[in-house]
Amino acid sequence: MSHISIAIDGPAAAGKSTIAKRVAKKLEYLYIDTGAMYRAVTLYVLEHGDDIIQNISNHVHITFGINDEVYLNDKDVSAEIRSPEVTNNVSRVAAIGEVRTYLVDMQREISTTSSVVMDGRDIGTTVLPDAEVKIFMQASPKVRAERRLLEETARGNDIDLETLTAEIIRRDEIDSTREISPLVQADDAVLLDTSHLSIEEAEAKIIQLVKDKL
Ligand code: C5P
Repeated sequence: MSHISIAIDGPAAAGKSTIAKRVAKKLEYLYIDTGAMYRAVTLYVLEHGDDIIQNISNHVHITFGINDEVYLNDKDVSAEIRSPEVTNNVSRVAAIGEVRTYLVDMQREISTTSSVVMDGRDIGTTVLPDAEVKIFMQASPKVRAERRLLEETARGNDIDLETLTAEIIRRDEIDSTREISPLVQADDAVLLDTSHLSIEEAEAKIIQLVKDKL
């Protein structure tokens, strides 16, 4: 049986994971948060040092739970991977070739076993270039920082809008200018600006794109 892939890429805090999760649920596809995979590797590297990267497959084993929990070597790290320390280091770790090769292989493998909604930075360009539907999700920096502020406050993190805006801009800059698989819109991706869309509206637009395509 052939599987369908939906690729959702875009800068930090554009709404990718919230919307991708809902689309996956509606279509009964698997949701894969590739950012969470880079975050899990970063957490491990922060704890064990950069040297392990040469031999990453022997050290890092990542799996997802049924409620999208992220397991690193069988430990639930869903909360830890959202810490400011991981967030501030993830773009550096994600720019390393060995890390990308290891995770991209894993992401492709998953897409051969199930229909997926996969979100990240390089899904439409590199991981799944033949994805049936590709979305590039954008939102203004102001809207993105405000959304992230709500998320961080809900998690109990005390952080201000200015710091968050700077963090988002810095991460986008590193992600867009790195040598391997930088964040760019794939030529055949549909641009979706969510600045003035509700979650429901953005979800409906993607579902419509999928319906039009399949
Ligand atoms: O999606 P999220 O913001 O959690 O991603 C964290 C980081 O992981 C990004 O800023 C980027 O450096 C990296 N990433 C990546 N490629 C992906 C997904 C995430 O380089 N496909």
